[in-house]
Amino acid sequence: MVAYQTHPSEANVPGAVDPLTNHAESRSTLAHPRQVGGVLELFERAQLMTDLEAVEQLLLVRATSQSEVITSASTHTIRSGGKRLRAALALLAARLGQYDLPNVIHAAAAVELIQAASLVHDDLVDQAARRRGRVTVHARWDNDVALMVGDFFFALASREMALSPDPRIITYYAQAVQTIVEGELSPVTLIEPVAPALEQYYYKTGAKTASLFEAACKAGMAAGGGDEGQIVALGRYGFALGMAFQIIDDILDFTSDEVTLGKPAGNDLRQGTITLPLIYAVARTGSSRLRALIEQGLPTEAQVRAAIAEVTAAGGIDAAMAEARRFISEASAQLAAFPASPAHRALVDLAHFVIYREA
Ligand code: FPP
Ligand code: MG
Repeated sequence: MVAYQTHPSEANVPGAVDPLTNHAESRSTLAHPRQVGGVLELFERAQLMTDLEAVEQLLLVRATSQSEVITSASTHTIRSGGKRLRAALALLAARLGQYDLPNVIHAAAAVELIQAASLVHDDLVDQAARRRGRVTVHARWDNDVALMVGDFFFALASREMALSPDPRIITYYAQAVQTIVEGELSPVTLIEPVAPALEQYYYKTGAKTASLFEAACKAGMAAGGGDEGQIVALGRYGFALGMAFQIIDDILDFTSDEVTLGKPAGNDLRQGTITLPLIYAVARTGSSRLRALIEQGLPTEAQVRAAIAEVTAAGGIDAAMAEARRFISEASAQLAAFPASPAHRALVDLAHFVIYREA
């Protein structure tokens, strides 16, 4: 049985497999649980792994193109994996309703394809050398290939949306992509005064990260036949979870290291990117050294290390962490109206994983 719909052009694509029945034929690209701080154990407990593997296989099937270079670069990107959190959110949200994998698999694949498109383009814009420990597309091939592969992923995502059972799913994802692009062009320029700096930071974080979490949850709930109230609640859960996720990402840039992150730590300070720990540190100490560092641009490695120490000593990390916890409480509260179930438990646990993850 084919658990997902094929595109007409795929019938003769070599290596095209049924993601549900043919797992053994292509190697899983999902990361090992130890590499992602236990989130896969959480998925295993929720008996989500088989379905996530099906999404993974679908992504690999879709990555195959008439163009050899597109196939290589898109397969390279898909195999770089990641936690597949957004796909998991779509699947878990659908499980709160009437769950049927063929109904939701396209929405789960679409969100990972949008994420892949945005990261390939983001690495191109930032000229980043590594992502998730692997060389980026523009660095391994060139800028033109990265631009085209991002567009290719985006087209693939559109086709997955079109295969989804509920047209509202297209609207949710289209809205998220629009917001991501607007957010990308809306930098945080203020480090103080604290109120407008926070306003800029929250707008940007909501746009670039939380909007897609929100859309994944709404799409999953719609695919599961949820009513409007349930879709709104799941969207709010996803948005708050995404805010916490990005705040933790910004904290990890201060507290982690390149081996754990799969990309250089301290990058935000190095690139003059203003994030929550820095805003809170300056609000608490009024430090002119931190302000000068951002204004001057191109800090030395010693200055980056000193700034990380200063932000930590000022309590910037702790304050940002408290804010992330507040978003997690907000997310969990949205689940209160749903009856207990393994999927409900997994969504609650996921909120805690987001806070305690190490990479
Ligand atoms: C990563 O954030 C960046 C994004 C999630 C969004 C990037 C969006 C675009 C380039 C616009 C194109 C969008 C689509 C949907 C095709 P980051 O730079 O803070 O994180 P990082 O440190 O992991 O790079
Ligand atoms: Mg980036």
